[in-house]
Amino acid sequence: MKLTPVALLLSGLCAVSLAAHAQQAGEPVYREYTGYIDYGKSPKASDDARHTGTWEHWKDRAKLDEKRVASAEDQWTTNWKFMDPPFDGSLHGGHEAQDRGEELYKQLNANGRFATCLGAKRGDLKSLRLQYPQYNRTLKRVVGMEQMIEHCAQQQGMKLENGSYDNTAVSVYITAFSNGMPLKIDVTRGPLKDSFERGKKLFHTKAGWTNFSCATCHVSIVGRSLRGQTPTTHYGDIAHWPTYRTKDELQSLHVRFAECNRNAGVQPLKIGSQEYTDIEVFMTALSNDYPVAVPSARD
Ligand code: HEC
Repeated sequence: MKLTPVALLLSGLCAVSLAAHAQQAGEPVYREYTGYIDYGKSPKASDDARHTGTWEHWKDRAKLDEKRVASAEDQWTTNWKFMDPPFDGSLHGGHEAQDRGEELYKQLNANGRFATCLGAKRGDLKSLRLQYPQYNRTLKRVVGMEQMIEHCAQQQGMKLENGSYDNTAVSVYITAFSNGMPLKIDVTRGPLKDSFERGKKLFHTKAGWTNFSCATCHVSIVGRSLRGQTPTTHYGDIAHWPTYRTKDELQSLHVRFAECNRNAGVQPLKIGSQEYTDIEVFMTALSNDYPVAVPSARD
């Protein structure tokens, strides 16, 4: 039989689609995902107005409804995480960490090279926090500030492991120089865009015996009580990190991720890993425009 070119093309297409089908059928399903919500290209905290409807209760710090904050049922709607509670300004473990951070910073930066390594211009720490997370040419990867603190301390002969109390204390000290300045990371292009996309995917990837993703709690069941805790929106979270947890633990953001992983029955990843950094990039973009506020305290 002589095949016409059209028949040849059709049989070819058929073979291709059969092959694709066979591959899909034989492929085990490793992962399920929680569907994306509309994050847009250039996300920011106020986008949450479209999602949980709570934005009106937390957009303006000065007009915060303290009755709502005090209400066990409605507190989650105020999403007051970016502030520095308790509102009476009393001292807490975060302030202690800031002092420890200052002490360590002064040792580390005795020759001025620690600040330069972190990217501070003429040793000025003001707004340095806003440069993170960043693509770092020396390390050839996207890094959060705590990862760079570990790296730059090592250059000065000091071991400050990412996630340790001392590393996080230095982070609190440096971050405080950006207090009041809004986060602004650009995830519209380059390595940060790729990192944002990976972070978004990870945030929506289900895992562990519960088969929950981060988004299961922080998107799908926001505001519903879960074993006595109420997950809040994932918008507007990042500007107050690192934070002092009132269970008496200074935490970096990655340590918090690990805690959420454990709570959901998922093996935590390494602090400072590319995966946690990608989630950090994703969540930082969702906090864009929110003013840095440390030392902070959270339950
Ligand atoms: C089983 C539900 C659940 C899962 C799954 C979960 N979280 Fe959480 N998460 C919570 C609860 C509850 C809190 C405390 C209330 C709050 O702040 O939202 C919390 C708090 C947080 C906070 C601190 C918010 C703040 O500023 O104090 C961050 C950041 C966070 N989660 C990120 C994540 C990430 C990233 C993942 C996935 C790796 C994740 N969570 C998975 C329930 C969950």
